[in-house]
Amino acid sequence: MKVFLIAAISADGFIAKTSDQLADWTSSEDKKLFTRLTKEAGYMVMGSRTFATIGRALPDRKTIIYSNHPETIIGGDDDAIEITQESPAELVKRLAAAGIPGLAICGGAQIYSLFAEAGVIDEVYLTIEPILFGSGVPLFGKDLDIALELIETNQLNEHAILLHYRVLPKQ
Ligand SMILES: NC(=O)c1ccc[n+]([C@@H]2O[C@H](COP(=O)([O-])OP(=O)(O)OC[C@H]3O[C@@H](n4cnc5c(N)ncnc54)[C@H](OP(=O)(O)O)[C@@H]3O)[C@@H](O)[C@H]2O)c1
Repeated sequence: MKVFLIAAISADGFIAKTSDQLADWTSSEDKKLFTRLTKEAGYMVMGSRTFATIGRALPDRKTIIYSNHPETIIGGDDDAIEITQESPAELVKRLAAAGIPGLAICGGAQIYSLFAEAGVIDEVYLTIEPILFGSGVPLFGKDLDIALELIETNQLNEHAILLHYRVLPKQ
């Protein structure tokens, strides 16, 4: 099972201006990429704040929401949604044993950090959108030391670039 982080960032490294902002500033090409890769994976992981900005389960995928307050998740009783507090290692082990093809780590910053710190991410897809926020929610906001190897770059449109990396094993 491939575990990958997928994010769109401003050119200065933020995933949003505020933690309740919708992802309405990203390009249609990035949204298409997100839909394709998450459908191929079949399973997505996100934090409760990110889920609140989407407000529903996305079609043809299972959404696993991290929350310590499951009762506060609106729409949490949908069959396509699971709410968990498992460690990333436990979740990845459980899904791999169930034969799931892939797991997309879909943010936000708290969940990207949780999975990056746990060392369970195999690949990273970063779309750099042509915008500067100056301040906001950073991609991680935690101290990390993770080496990457570039697999491919792809110009998604005239101004947005996809960087696709492999995570190198810890030395
Ligand atoms: N540009 C992009 O690609 C992209 C992608 C994703 C998100 N975003 C943006 O990121 C922002 C949200 O990011 P965020 O970092 O503020 O929040 P987040 O990571 O989406 O969610 C944080 C919540 O996750 C839960 N959580 C975190 N760690 C947990 C753990 N170990 N166990 C159980 N639950 C845990 C907690 O929920 P409870 O409070 O319910 O306990 C916490 O409040 C939004 O603006 C969103 O639009 C952007």
